[in-house]
Amino acid sequence: MRSCFDKIRVMIITMLFLSSVVFCLSIKVGIYDDYPMCYMENDTPKGFYVDILKYIASKEKWDLVFVHDKWEKLLDMLERGEVDALAAIAYTAEREKIYDFNNEPFISNWGVVVAKKQLSSIFELSGLTVALVKKDVYAERFLKMLEEFHVDIKVVWVDDYEEVMGYIDKGKAYAGVVSRFSSALESHKHSCVETPIIFAPVDLKMAFKKGARINSQIVPIIDRYLKEMKSQKGSVYWESLSRYLEVPFRMPEWLKLLIQISIGSIAFLLIILIILKKLVNVRTRELLQRTEELQRANQQINAMNEQIKSLYNELQETFDRFQDIMVLTSQVGTFEASEKEFLENVLNMALKLVPKVKYGSVSLVKGDRWVFIAAKGHDIEKLKNLPLKREYAIVSIDSTKIVDRIMDKDRMLMPSELLEEFSNAVKPIKSTIISPLKFGGKLIGFFSLDIPEGSEEVFTEQDIEIVDRFSRIISGFYAARRYIEVEGKFHKNVAIALVKALESYDPYMKGHSERVAQYSTNLAENLRLEKSMIRKIYWAGLVHDIGKIIVPRSVLNKAGKLTEEEYEIVKKHALKGYEILLGVEGMEEIAKIVKHHHERWDGKGYPDGLKGEQIPIESRIIALSDAFDAMTSARPYRDPLPVEKALNEIMENKETQFDPNLADAFVQMIMSRSA
Ligand SMILES: [Fe+2]
Repeated sequence: MRSCFDKIRVMIITMLFLSSVVFCLSIKVGIYDDYPMCYMENDTPKGFYVDILKYIASKEKWDLVFVHDKWEKLLDMLERGEVDALAAIAYTAEREKIYDFNNEPFISNWGVVVAKKQLSSIFELSGLTVALVKKDVYAERFLKMLEEFHVDIKVVWVDDYEEVMGYIDKGKAYAGVVSRFSSALESHKHSCVETPIIFAPVDLKMAFKKGARINSQIVPIIDRYLKEMKSQKGSVYWESLSRYLEVPFRMPEWLKLLIQISIGSIAFLLIILIILKKLVNVRTRELLQRTEELQRANQQINAMNEQIKSLYNELQETFDRFQDIMVLTSQVGTFEASEKEFLENVLNMALKLVPKVKYGSVSLVKGDRWVFIAAKGHDIEKLKNLPLKREYAIVSIDSTKIVDRIMDKDRMLMPSELLEEFSNAVKPIKSTIISPLKFGGKLIGFFSLDIPEGSEEVFTEQDIEIVDRFSRIISGFYAARRYIEVEGKFHKNVAIALVKALESYDPYMKGHSERVAQYSTNLAENLRLEKSMIRKIYWAGLVHDIGKIIVPRSVLNKAGKLTEEEYEIVKKHALKGYEILLGVEGMEEIAKIVKHHHERWDGKGYPDGLKGEQIPIESRIIALSDAFDAMTSARPYRDPLPVEKALNEIMENKETQFDPNLADAFVQMIMSRSA
């Protein structure tokens, strides 16, 4: 019984083993390099056919064995039964005679001519070398087509489509025939283009060894799966197809070239741009540096200009002050400016030099009186008329000093009613610099400058110094004036004494010199000549005939006409007067006027025969006065001429004896006086 069970057990195991052998079908499939249909990558079979067959095998539990080899060899192996099936083979009637095929095509395909350069027709291939794959259906159809169109080519046989394109790369063939998939997916890797020459559309199927028993088991299953998969979107069929057969975008050569040129151009432009930018940066930096340098230089120049301008202004101001001081000091020793004029000049200048000062005054003490002579800001007319006594002034002041609230001091000294009038005449004062004016060690007056009430300014030591200087100038003015007065009186007295002596010598000359001096002075004043010149004219008029002292009395008092010798003696009086006066210090200019008082406008006078404006104007004026007075005075040999006649005489002799303009002015002066 037990042996019976054992037998049954062995039988079951054997059956199970046999059944497993029957269900686990082993199929050898030949594949060759025909990307993307089938190919080997790193010893692993891949491709569209491989995906589908693997899927079917996994479902049907087939044991698939892929045998990779050359196309031509695989065809032989299939014939010999060394492989059960061959993938990616185009179905043709001729091939069906040799192999069995499944019914449902895997995919449709066609042949394409690829070439070194673009072609438009097969006739262009005439005489050229074309690479074809051995036993390839497209190669066969292509040769048949060429034959039909009588196109002769040179054929070079290769093993697969990859080699076809490799031959074109190497120049071993001009063109070649490949499947459309191969062309679409591989030609871009090679130096060949796909031409529009396409032909031989075929269905790609699987071939099986003719009449093999296994065919009936697997072919219907493959067909069934193919149909099912084709009908289902998303199936392995479509998934694999889209993965492999999605034709990559192939950029046209012209576009590639254009892009390359564009990239090249852009790169070139970028490089140029970078270089230019660097250059611009360098130049910009340089320019900025230069600009900064220029700005600095400009600022320096501006600063220097400002400095120069300020120095110039200072210099100008200093020069102006110097000029003012020169004018002032020149006025000190002359009678050119009146006292009032001079003091006003001093006050104006002091106010200019000390801008904080707005008012000022000069006052003198004369006997027991205190008199205001000039003022700025204060009412000088009112001040002049006030009956101020010497004691109202701060007579105790000994040197230049600052006195604040000077009116408070005055208040103590003046009677109240006078103080009120005084206060009305002066502006309110905050601070004063007061300086005593002295002459011969005695106080003669005051010079004062005032800062007005309400001002923030205060006096400094420098201000005291300035006021002190002005005070000295004013004192100097009075000293000089006093000296000149004294000296002048002395000179005048001496001159008059001399003239009187001369007149006693020549009684007909009595009063003549003083009248000539007076006529001449009047004419000079009418002509608005300078004061110093008028003064000289007066003096010269007074002493013009002083030289007659050397003329003998007999000649001077001769009643008849003078002899030539006598006249020559008389003529010498001009030169002699000159010599006498030249010996007196300070009378040099008067001497020169005296010397030429007998010159004539036409040059016929004496002693030098000067002509026109060569003759000093003072001498020309005295000549007119001298002639007029001589004509209108009695002489030992004639009565005096009437004024009118004398004037006619002058008019008749103008331009010969007299300066015509001066003669007109003189006549006009006398006539207006007579009228
Ligand atoms: Fe004379």
